[in-house]
Amino acid sequence: MRIRVLGSAAGGGFPQWNCNCPNCDGVRRGTVRAQPRNQSSIAVSNDGKDWVLFNASPDLLAQIKAFPDLQPARALRDTGIAAVVLIDAQIDHTTGLLMLREGKALEIYCTDMVREDLTTGNPLFNILGHFCGVNWHRIATAPGSGFSIPAVPGLRFAAVPLRSKAPPYSPHREDPHEGDNIGVRIEDTASGRNVFYAPGLGEIEPHLKPLLEDADCVMVDGTFWTDDEMVRLGISKKRAREIGHLPQSGPGGMISVMDGLSKPRKILIHINNTNPILVEDSPERAQLAAHGIEVAYDGMEVEL
Ligand code: MLT
Ligand code: MN
Ligand code: ZN
Repeated sequence: MRIRVLGSAAGGGFPQWNCNCPNCDGVRRGTVRAQPRNQSSIAVSNDGKDWVLFNASPDLLAQIKAFPDLQPARALRDTGIAAVVLIDAQIDHTTGLLMLREGKALEIYCTDMVREDLTTGNPLFNILGHFCGVNWHRIATAPGSGFSIPAVPGLRFAAVPLRSKAPPYSPHREDPHEGDNIGVRIEDTASGRNVFYAPGLGEIEPHLKPLLEDADCVMVDGTFWTDDEMVRLGISKKRAREIGHLPQSGPGGMISVMDGLSKPRKILIHINNTNPILVEDSPERAQLAAHGIEVAYDGMEVEL
């Protein structure tokens, strides 16, 4: 299985268009050692021809241009994107769907809750109904449920519910429902090797532990270094945990969770532009390296 990181930044991207925090300003001026990053998405394939997108970022067109494998050109109109799995209904994970409107009906896999948000507060499915149309496939999150996608017969998927947060426009933003956010285990059925992908992870719930331990690779929430990162910078009143993201540092943070795992390759993804780990020679980045944790970048590939 090939996993290609199309976008490794959180909502807003890096640098964010209106942001002059030290990271955004520094990368724009070339005064910090950091790479710009697109918004959150990965593509997965086991034959290198048919790909499943995990999330459709607003930067999708640039991501397709940067990764020609998604455009195999087998016919006058063609795409390597066989299906799209949505892990939540957030803007940074869904609005790229609009950029796919010129093609065939989209094969979209998501939970009932995400579908509800995408037909109400963020009615992308309704809008796409006037263009290519949407073939919706329900993702179940009950223990033991898994799914496959006909276009990628060598891969098997299983979703787990995550306690995080529905988007601000969700009819139940303050009333969390199972399926608002999911993590997905993606397995290559031939080798049995698997990745656990969860770019939005608010809490390490007991049902996650075996999945994290059994994965060959984890690609998990790298949004914030500290809970009060945006507050301290004076950018926002929102704290990491409040918006469904487990910070990396401190007691019970992502670093300590990763320390408990011996099997998987450990990669942080969905990194907010304020996060000091974006700076390659920062002490925070060195701390991650000392714990064997990598930071995803656009164009990164993992082969399992
Ligand atoms: C999040 O995951 O919290 C988002 O990146 C927020 C956003 O897209 O605005
Ligand atoms: Mn996000
Ligand atoms: Zn910034």
